[in-house]
Parts: sequence; C-alpha cells; structure tokens
Amino acid sequence: MEIVTTLSELRIKRAGLQGSVGFVPTMGYLHAGHISLAKRAKTDCESVAASIFVNPTQFAPTEDLAKYPRNLPQDLALLEEAGVDLVWTPTPGEMYPAGYQTWVSVETLTSGLEGAVRPAHFRGVTTVVAKLFNAVRPDKAYFGQKDAQQAAVIRQMVKDLNFPIDIVVCPIVREPDGLAMSSRNVYLNADERRAATILFKSLNAAKLAYNHGERTAEKLRKIMSDKIGSEPLAKMQYVSCADCETLKELEKIEGKSLLSMAVYFGKTRLIDNVILDVVSF
Ligand code: PAJ
Repeated sequence: MEIVTTLSELRIKRAGLQGSVGFVPTMGYLHAGHISLAKRAKTDCESVAASIFVNPTQFAPTEDLAKYPRNLPQDLALLEEAGVDLVWTPTPGEMYPAGYQTWVSVETLTSGLEGAVRPAHFRGVTTVVAKLFNAVRPDKAYFGQKDAQQAAVIRQMVKDLNFPIDIVVCPIVREPDGLAMSSRNVYLNADERRAATILFKSLNAAKLAYNHGERTAEKLRKIMSDKIGSEPLAKMQYVSCADCETLKELEKIEGKSLLSMAVYFGKTRLIDNVILDVVSF
C-alpha cells in the first residue's frame, strides 16, 4: 500500500494504479463502516484509493474539529488489511492554501435536515469532495447510507458538474445492539452509549408502524420523537420523514421515503436513518 501526503506524490502514484479505480473518502478514525466501503470498492474495481482528511471547512466554529478523533497508524493498518492500494493524507495547508476562495455548493437538497441545522456543512463537504475527485480521478466513489443526505448531495453534485464518476452508496454498518458505527461514538460515556441505542429503536418503531400500514408521515415522526423522549439522556434535535429523492418533509408516504434523526447525548451529536421501501416484515 502506497501512502502519500502531497498532491504531486498523489498524482504520480495515481498514474501507476492499474485498471478501474474505486475511491473511499474518509475523515479517518476508521471503523467497520468505513472498511465496508473499501471492501466493496475492492470487489468492484481493480484498484482502490482512500483519503484521510479531517476537512476543516465542513465544521462550524462551535463544532468538534479540534477534538475530532484521530489514529493514523491504526487507520493505515485497517486500510492495508482491506486491500487498499493507495492512501492520500493531505494537509489542510495544501487543500486550502492562503488565498483559497472557490466553493462548490449544492442548493435545494442542502436546505433541510442536516443542512438546516449545520448551515455551512455541505458547502464544505461538496468543496472537499470535488477537490478529492479532481485529484484522484476515480471511476467509482463509495459513500455510506449512514450520511444519507451527504450521499444524495454528492450524487447531485456529480450529475450537475458532469464528474465521470459512479457514486455507490453502501448500507449502514451497526454495532450488535443496533447503534450505527460512527467515529463520534468514542465521545460517549458508558451511560450515553447505552442510551444511544434509542436511535435505532425509534427508527424501528416507526418502521414497524409503516409495515403495519401507517402512511401518515406526522404519525411516524411522532412515534420516533415519543420514543426518543422516553430516554432521559437523549435530547432530540430533529426527526424527519422525507421523500428519498427530494429530501422534502412528507405529509403522506406514497413512494420511497427516508426516516432520519439527529439526537444529542451530552455534547455528542449522533445521526441515524432508515429507508422505507417495500413492506418487509
Ligand atoms: P466520515 O465521517 O469519515 O465517513 C466516511 C464515509 O464512511 C462516509 O461515506 C460515511 O457515510 C461512511 N460511513 C460512516 N459510518 C458508516 C457506517 N456505520 N456504515 C456505513 N458507512 C459509514 O463522511 C465523511 O467522512 C466526510 O464528510 C467526507 C465525505 C470524507 C468529506 O470530508
């Protein structure tokens, strides 16, 4: 596995990759969710590249940029084990040199959900992903359903800006008790960690009602918010039942829809979601 830091080294090693290239962008502190993307890329493509970059422009000044967890030696060992060929660990100074002033911004899709409560977040995500795509020039890029709105926004960016890249969205990898894997789970103390199972439980309660025929979005939102409210350590930020494509809040569910939520446990903010599609018991 080649490990490079500068853009010029990246370009040289990228030119040496054989055949189709799959790309997995990450912010590091890798877990089985990230590794599932690398493994999927490995089965689809002849070569796999990954990036590790804690992107400052997608964090608000009040957010956890400074304390975002990092463990580069462990990340590199996990990527090597997954069969990744090339890892790029750019520096903030090279990604955003003094005088940097160009931004990529997807508009309507970023107005709700995460975009409504983290206003500059997606501008930072789309800008850095566009820069990573331009440098790595992959054939396919892999994202997790865990960040459902991020995946939808990246798809829109790729379509609007004519990037010749297939976006592949992979399922959420969960802990045995249902908690979605996240680099931020490490912030939780033991009580918060137990309480955090309420996200998946509340999504499942709403999904069960849907499977029994409930199609009124407000009722599903209420099932989720009541369930979260039953957990004293959980502080709900939002729950949503939105159209899968437009991400607009629904009144009545007619097609594929997305149940999603953001919940605080102390200072730690967690998100989770599930797609409602065909009835599944
Ligand atoms: P990061 O949070 O490190 O996540 C990298 C990728 O892993 C994202 O596509 C995310 O959706 C996916 N992922 C995270 N947890 C997952 C889980 N439990 N199951 C499946 N996939 C999971 O998302 C980012 O970094 C950044 O915004 C980035 C796209 C790298 C741009 O900076």
